Amino acid sequence: MRKKIVAGNWKMNTTVPEGVELAKAVVAKSAEVPSDVKLIVATPFTHLVPVAAVTAGTRVGLSAENCADKEKGAYTGEVSAAMLASAGCQYTILGHSERRQYYGETDEKLVEKTRLALAQGLDVILCVGENRDEREAGRHFDVCKTQVENVLFQFTAEDLKHIIVAYEPVWAIGTGLTATAEQAEEIHAYIRGIIAARFGAEAAEELSILYGGSCKPSNAKELFAQKDIDGGLIGGAALKADDFIGIALSF
Ligand code: 13P
Repeated sequence: MRKKIVAGNWKMNTTVPEGVELAKAVVAKSAEVPSDVKLIVATPFTHLVPVAAVTAGTRVGLSAENCADKEKGAYTGEVSAAMLASAGCQYTILGHSERRQYYGETDEKLVEKTRLALAQGLDVILCVGENRDEREAGRHFDVCKTQVENVLFQFTAEDLKHIIVAYEPVWAIGTGLTATAEQAEEIHAYIRGIIAARFGAEAAEELSILYGGSCKPSNAKELFAQKDIDGGLIGGAALKADDFIGIALSF
């Protein structure tokens, strides 16, 4: 049985004290959520150590939003996978569309980042998804296929056990435009098919594929009811503990 997961990507929001309060509220409300749903908060780097003190020993996992593509050394301003692991993270998001769009994240860099994260025992939440032009040109399947192949095909079926895929159509992120459950499901099923063809049916069946893009309590139920949608990567709605938990209650 593959895991059900709801992960909150806080992006560049909250001060450290605000983030600690938000994490405390998520932990406090997490008891309402059935135990087969994994909850994760992904916080800015500055928040990881104090939030780790809040989430340690609870059912809430801790994720970074990015990590460096180098192991260590003279890379001013970067944060390595080893630093994340030592800060108390169990996960890192990689390849978020905002990083691909604004910070020159390439699939080549993502291969390095994924390799370094896995080597430190971190699980990776790898984001893929098409932008609006690509969707309008009918290229969404091809774009997702290329992103999946370029990164995941560099790894093994064993590595895949430590990777979660998040399908986040860029046109749905922060726009209030959610992909319909059918639009999301057809891409999720397609991605699972690509994984099955390369790594086998069992690896594909065990891979959690999350949907992200204007997911909220009011639409999560329909999305999560789809066969190949295993949960959500939540942006805006993850900044309110009630909404985040409301989404986690939507399975
Ligand atoms: P929103 O939920 O704000 O659309 O963001 C989704 C996202 O980018 C999560 O990584």
